[in-house]
Amino acid sequence: MVDSEILDGAIAERPREVSEHPLLAAVYDRHDALIRRYTRRDGRTLELAFGRHAHPDADVGVEAFHENCVDVVGIDATTADARRLPFADDSFDTVVGRRFLHHVPEADRAAIVAEARRVLAPDGRFVVLEGTPGLYRRLTKAVAFRLGALGEDTDEYGHLSVDELRDLLDEGGFETVAFERLGSPLMPLSISTAPWSARVAPLYECTQFVRWWTLAVATPTADPVAVSRVERPESSSKQRHV
Ligand SMILES: C[S@@+](CC[C@H](N)C(=O)[O-])C[C@H]1O[C@@H](n2cnc3c(N)ncnc32)[C@H](O)[C@@H]1O
Repeated sequence: MVDSEILDGAIAERPREVSEHPLLAAVYDRHDALIRRYTRRDGRTLELAFGRHAHPDADVGVEAFHENCVDVVGIDATTADARRLPFADDSFDTVVGRRFLHHVPEADRAAIVAEARRVLAPDGRFVVLEGTPGLYRRLTKAVAFRLGALGEDTDEYGHLSVDELRDLLDEGGFETVAFERLGSPLMPLSISTAPWSARVAPLYECTQFVRWWTLAVATPTADPVAVSRVERPESSSKQRHV
């Protein structure tokens, strides 16, 4: 089975099944609860690049990797590219995107933000959770690869620092209204499928000092000038399997 492919430069993949990794499942539960603080539950929510875990509040999801859209329960899933969303302007109240900007070449990330802004209602919210680069992440990933615990390096385009994420949103016509720096020195253990790994989950809250992700919440600014400068990349039929 092909479990990853390059689509117009973006790394599309079949991620791990969260429920098979007890600690990972606990971390996702925590993130779902955090994100729920910001979703507009009275409106429609779109999740970009939901992989195999859509937020419980998501109504609609888009994913570049087709298999992720098959047999999905609870959301209306579409195989599509977050750089060219197949939705009308102003059609959602919340757009969520987690852990996927680093799968897209840096030059194309502005198109994703522009598309999120286009499909969001003027008073909507864009909730982004992205990996934070750093020495700890580099070291733990290097060890995981060496031990054969990770299949492929999907970090090759680079994660975004807090400032880079803020700049990307600012330049895309958003005002960032909340930032949370999330840590997780225990992430290497999330690879485990052993039931005991769930037992370290309570340690998670008191080990937030090593940064692993950033959660940003942004609202569209009134001035759409910045957005009009961003071009939507044209789709190319070229696909490369890795
Ligand atoms: C690391 S996974 C994260 C999945 C999910 N958001 C999560 O947090 O578990 C990155 C996902 O982004 C998807 N992806 C990459 N580029 C994309 C694009 N341009 N449009 C839509 N999905 C994309 C991949 O197929 C993959 O499922």
